[in-house]
Amino acid sequence: MLADTSSRLSKIISVTTPLEMAGLWLRRGRREARREWDTAVRLRPRGLPRYAIEALFPAQDLQLRLACPGRYASQDVFGMTCLAVAAAATRPRKILEIGTFRGATALLLAANAPEATVYTLDLPPGADDADLPMTRVDREIVAVRKDRMMYEGTPEAQRIVQLWGDSASFDFDAVGDGIDLAFIDGAHSYEYVRNDTEKVLPRMRPGGVILWDDYWDPFPGVIRYLNEIGDRGLAAVVATRLVVRAGVC
Ligand SMILES: C[S@@+](CC[C@H](N)C(=O)[O-])C[C@H]1O[C@@H](n2cnc3c(N)ncnc32)[C@H](O)[C@@H]1O
Repeated sequence: MLADTSSRLSKIISVTTPLEMAGLWLRRGRREARREWDTAVRLRPRGLPRYAIEALFPAQDLQLRLACPGRYASQDVFGMTCLAVAAAATRPRKILEIGTFRGATALLLAANAPEATVYTLDLPPGADDADLPMTRVDREIVAVRKDRMMYEGTPEAQRIVQLWGDSASFDFDAVGDGIDLAFIDGAHSYEYVRNDTEKVLPRMRPGGVILWDDYWDPFPGVIRYLNEIGDRGLAAVVATRLVVRAGVC
């Protein structure tokens, strides 16, 4: 019993800190904090080495612009912060995102990379099917998209290029080569995460940074594929579902 409790505790402590949980409790109440705690437990290592974001993008004097639009983005505050750090630290000129949803992360990336053009791809409005197998969760996400994007009406909108198409058949010549930062967050089946990665890799600038979302239990295809290519310098980012291939790995 004691051993069981202590092994559960060590799993929890390895993924989050009591201070973070206390902050969550104060900000969002007990039920939300409990849900986040459960999530943190599920975020235990899945095969890839785990690094804190500041180890992947070593200390710099970064001014971040953060917005955490809750249900309008797939990221929580830790995920949004890590994306902002990656964008600000790498000073990209060309960013590609696969999976726009309502545009929250496209806006975040643009806001933290003031010299970048952000290309962001999603299935065309109204599309409810795809070329490769999708997960059930992906189908649900596709169904709740909205036409209006969060970046509309912002100063960043003029640097955001919205692309429509299925990433399996889309012609990425529209984006070109020399991508400095890519964020792969489209469909989450094994087939799609592999397709999206293989489409993006040859178009990256040498040393460019790739981030993937959803390296966690609900998406075993993402875990499987990223573990397969893990020896190319991939690392999971502590306290998030993100995986990164940074030049520094
Ligand atoms: C998790 S959401 C992206 C969330 C967004 N990056 C954010 O955090 O604000 C995934 C998006 O990928 C899109 N998607 C799913 N399958 C796709 C495909 N085959 N090609 C392009 N986009 C796809 C969905 O329509 C959905 O909007």
